[in-house]
Amino acid sequence: MSSAALSFTVQVRSDVMPDDQREAVLANPGFGKTYTDHMVLATWTAGQGWHDGKVTAYGPLSLDPSAAVLHYAQEIFEGMKAYRHADGSVWTFRPKFNAARFVRSARRLALPELPETDFIESLRALVTTDQKWVPAGDAGESSLYLRPFMFASEAFLGVRPASVVTYCVIGSPAGAYFAGGLRPVSIWLSTDYTRAARGGTGEAKCGGNYAASLAAQVQAKDNGCDQVAFLDAVERRWVEELGGMNLFFVHGDGTIVTPELTGTILEGVTRASILELAGDLGLTVKEGRVSIDEWRDGAASGEITEVFACGTAAVVTPIGRLAWQGGEVVIGDHEVDGGVGAVTSSIRQALLDVQYGRVADSRGWMTRLA
Ligand SMILES: Cc1ncc(COP(=O)(O)O)c(C=O)c1O
Repeated sequence: MSSAALSFTVQVRSDVMPDDQREAVLANPGFGKTYTDHMVLATWTAGQGWHDGKVTAYGPLSLDPSAAVLHYAQEIFEGMKAYRHADGSVWTFRPKFNAARFVRSARRLALPELPETDFIESLRALVTTDQKWVPAGDAGESSLYLRPFMFASEAFLGVRPASVVTYCVIGSPAGAYFAGGLRPVSIWLSTDYTRAARGGTGEAKCGGNYAASLAAQVQAKDNGCDQVAFLDAVERRWVEELGGMNLFFVHGDGTIVTPELTGTILEGVTRASILELAGDLGLTVKEGRVSIDEWRDGAASGEITEVFACGTAAVVTPIGRLAWQGGEVVIGDHEVDGGVGAVTSSIRQALLDVQYGRVADSRGWMTRLA
């Protein structure tokens, strides 16, 4: 099997989106609606390893109806962003973290590992080719969302790891998650469903986890909530995470606590970064078990002063209300700060300042892409 680094041949299309149309998209990109002119593709076969890396025109993929991914969901993905700095350069945040998580996800889903250098080069190849699609950083919190993913493309209905696998990266311009200004979201506590069990795929970033969370997300909406929170699958007592974000609890004494990694939680790059940054802001951080009673009682008594969720898409999201079958509790002081606590705001700002190059990158978290 070849172990040489992949190279990405660039096939620039002649029919790229005209400048004025692209600028109109970038002025109001929303999320996940429009894609850049190109995408990255590479193929892995059991005999040849990774090969045929290329940047090519963005467009539909042709798949045999028997392709294994369509039947057995052998698929993994990543989510990250490219940020434009004030001098026009384009950077991404901690790509080695995502590359390593992609490798761990691949192992869990019996997919081939993509080496870290190939992963980062694939991002660089796409962003260099489509760099006009990275919104200006001064326009608030806009970025180019990058979605690397890998799936079993072999045409075969037997249940076994595929011997033909496709890797792809697509890019989609993204506006500020909270376009009308930061506002607290409401959370529905799922008691009917769990997201992951020990030994399952909870700590892998695979499509199946998200398919399994959708029924719970529908219940959240039906109950007037924005997002869903999951408890552990064994005792149904320990808080794990949201459908697509990790959780932090801010206590009155300046300690911030996040659920520890038990094998069922996705280890977020944002979570890991907050654990490192918090000390700079004078906060004490702790990874530990947080019970649902602690959340409910702490919010009701005021001992928990703020709760926030974190992830690449929304950075840091304040949580203003937790609801469940038969009850709810409001978190924080909405009279004073509109529900966005001071700790939540300062952590959010600290992360954004590094990502957009507004402060020195003292931890070497940023990697230049273009
Ligand atoms: C289930 C889940 N938890 C947490 C996160 C946050 O991870 P990150 O900070 O790496 O975006 C995500 C998003 O990727 C997710 O899908």
